[in-house]
Amino acid sequence: MSFVEICNVKKAFGNYSAIKGIDLEVRDGEFLVLLGPSGCGKSTLMRMIAGIETVTSGAIKIDGKDVTHLTPRERNVAMVFQTYALYPHLTVRANIEFPLRKMKLGREQIRERTLWAARMFRIERHLDRKPKQLSGGERQRVALARAIVRSPSVFMMDEPLSNLDAKLRATARQEIQQFQAETKATTVYVTHDQVEAMSLGHRIAVLSDGVVRQVGTPDEIYHRPADTFVATFVGSPAMNLVPRGGILEGFRPEQLLPSELVADKANTTEIRMEIQRIEQLGSTQLVYGTLDDQDGTPVIADVPAMAGISFTPGERHSFRIRHKEMHAFDKATGRRVEVKAAAAA
Ligand SMILES: Nc1ncnc2c1ncn2[C@@H]1O[C@H](COP(=O)(O)OP(=O)(O)OP(=O)(O)O)[C@@H](O)[C@H]1O
Ligand SMILES: [Mg+2]
Repeated sequence: MSFVEICNVKKAFGNYSAIKGIDLEVRDGEFLVLLGPSGCGKSTLMRMIAGIETVTSGAIKIDGKDVTHLTPRERNVAMVFQTYALYPHLTVRANIEFPLRKMKLGREQIRERTLWAARMFRIERHLDRKPKQLSGGERQRVALARAIVRSPSVFMMDEPLSNLDAKLRATARQEIQQFQAETKATTVYVTHDQVEAMSLGHRIAVLSDGVVRQVGTPDEIYHRPADTFVATFVGSPAMNLVPRGGILEGFRPEQLLPSELVADKANTTEIRMEIQRIEQLGSTQLVYGTLDDQDGTPVIADVPAMAGISFTPGERHSFRIRHKEMHAFDKATGRRVEVKAAAAA
């Protein structure tokens, strides 16, 4: 059992404040993803949990114990970096065994644990090879196996898949998910990739500029974003934001339906759009246009190709949004406002 508490943690580099007071809990057995754009403080926060970066103020607790001033080893956490370093002169087996050699374990126990970790990431066939005889994806998996072999209380990964091509990334994602489901290891995973975050996380903490914007399940983050930052960072293409009165009205591109597809127009609002250009993506087409308002607000609709509608640049087209799929945000603060979307329309 392991859980992590991050209590009002701040980090300053000189007079630059990189983490501006974060409170966050990683529950026992949870897969928590830290998601946010480059420079928002994800790695800094993770390094502070691991103990390889000092905190400026606040506390880090593991299993209720204050570990703020303990070494990484004393915290029993394991970390995999984006640029992992394997020992090139050692075999895969020796690389994975390495963390165990510092523990007082018998030879048989070391052999068993190494095999367990190698199997977890399906590299048992490669145990006698050197890293240079492996593909990039296989090397990445050796780094993951080496990190878990000690059975850490908390397992942390900082963009571990970013060096892999799209296909390998999908496979490795599946392996990490399986590993976590099997071991129930409390896991913190850093990424700027929202697809990775949505597919892996039990919960996601969305960071920007050194603060947590929202913590929630992928479903909550997607369907009830706490502010315009979260609303537009998660989801591709980004949520449309249209100014109306004192609020910004939000709706996702896939929820903007060509009116000819909406039989029952009750509880919907019409959006008339002047179409500028179309991107054919195979299964869907992205329709870029502007509204007939004074700002010419840009809007994107994601229309399934199956619908069989063709759009022409310059054409005015009528779309509809269901009221239950509309979001509202305060224009000044960007925070979500809980008005009935229908009333706001
Ligand atoms: N040692 C340091 N000295 C000064 N500034 C630093 C240091 N480490 C990080 N920073 C700054 O703190 C901020 C957060 O950095 P961090 O590495 O945590 O970002 P990140 O969210 O992991 O970004 P990325 O997705 O690019 O890895 C950045 O603006 C960075 O320039
Ligand atoms: Mg980083």
